[in-house]
Amino acid sequence: MLNFQLQMPTRILFGKGEVDDIGREAAKHGRKILLVTGRGSTKKSGVLDRVRRSLEGAGLEVIVFDRIEPNPRTTTVDEGGKLARVEKCDLIVALGGGSAMDAAKGIAAVAVSGRPIYEYLVGNKTGLWKELLPIREALPIITIPTLAATGSEANSGAVITHWESNEKASISGPALYPVAAILDPELTYTVPASYTADGCVDIFTHLYEGYLTGEGDARVQDEIAEGLMRTVIRFAKTALEQPDHYEARASILWASTLALIGIAGEGRGGAFPVHQMEHPLSGHYDISHGRGLAILTPAYYRYVYRERPERFAQLGRRVFGIQETDDLLAAEKSIAATEAWFKQIGAWDTLQNQGIQRDSLAGIASDAVRIGGRGKGYIPGIRELRESDVLSIYKACYE
Ligand code: NZQ
Ligand code: ZN
Repeated sequence: MLNFQLQMPTRILFGKGEVDDIGREAAKHGRKILLVTGRGSTKKSGVLDRVRRSLEGAGLEVIVFDRIEPNPRTTTVDEGGKLARVEKCDLIVALGGGSAMDAAKGIAAVAVSGRPIYEYLVGNKTGLWKELLPIREALPIITIPTLAATGSEANSGAVITHWESNEKASISGPALYPVAAILDPELTYTVPASYTADGCVDIFTHLYEGYLTGEGDARVQDEIAEGLMRTVIRFAKTALEQPDHYEARASILWASTLALIGIAGEGRGGAFPVHQMEHPLSGHYDISHGRGLAILTPAYYRYVYRERPERFAQLGRRVFGIQETDDLLAAEKSIAATEAWFKQIGAWDTLQNQGIQRDSLAGIASDAVRIGGRGKGYIPGIRELRESDVLSIYKACYE
């Protein structure tokens, strides 16, 4: 196992009805709240009102900023940051999926610094990100996820899109760790089937990326990742069949948090090549992040598995129950099993079907390497992916 440092500062309140405790929790951290949420789902489900009531019931002042779009944009984050500054908010509460939580993290940083969030995005053309990251100053943040997927609820990262240049990139830093996260699985009952499936693919990808690309021998992390992957596979089907199945929703939500909190990945030094290839796709075409991952995964696996068949074989045996002693054959069965699972949950797709133009792929591959490669000229992983490799992978899942 490699040396590592791990910080898990987020207090977690998990369970049925916990959302109604937001007022009490928030009162520990601030008096004037910017409540950051999406444009529709939290109003429709009534949870926005519930959160507001709890906050106001605790004597807190609340300003609602309900403008966050999926794949949240720099313009929206800047607007939210300005509002928080002008109104002198002292706490940000994020209610929604990864987009609302990520935007809230950006808003928390901008509210303190007054800088445009674009300057912080990794790989941006100004180069300022090299000085501004990691982010060490931001307003405190409390997250209330309504969709199980990104793990943003308890980690220190966020992903923002600069639509003007189609750059989608991350920001991170210790100040972005939420001080608390309220995980109430019942809030995820209303997530539609397509986002439930895409979210499960996202969780699965957060786990397999480090598992397949890492170099260190990390048995504990392997077992954690395998257990979480098996759990997500098992309960995705249940949640799709019965959207209000508590154990299924609770298991998937907790798995989403644990998948990207460090415990499944630190200590083996892995990379996130499939994420680095997906972000520019949703940055250019506004597609669902999890769906983009589902499209890329089988193509990526096929591109690299011969270079490390033993890891693909282990994943297949321990996660999908494949009984094949030859590593190369087991690796091939592992790829087929992953693809079959995506098809079963309705996440399997092609780039063409998502409306992506073939002639835009070269430019997107260039962005993937520039932003995902952070100046190295390639995306790290099982092998170094240069622009021509990324383009080959995009073409392999185009239709
Ligand atoms: O926008 P609203 O109206 O709220 O509706 C959302 C949105 O349309 C809807 N939704 C959310 N909760 C719901 C619900 N609908 C009904 N009932 C509910 N309970 O679902 C749609 C998708 O929401 P979104 O927040 O965009 O999805 P997700 O959670 O998958 O977040 C995706 C974003 O997170 C980034 C992605 O790149 C993408 O921008 N990521 C963030 C990460 C992080 N911070 O650590 C890591 C990830 O790898 C990822 O890159
Ligand atoms: Zn992801």
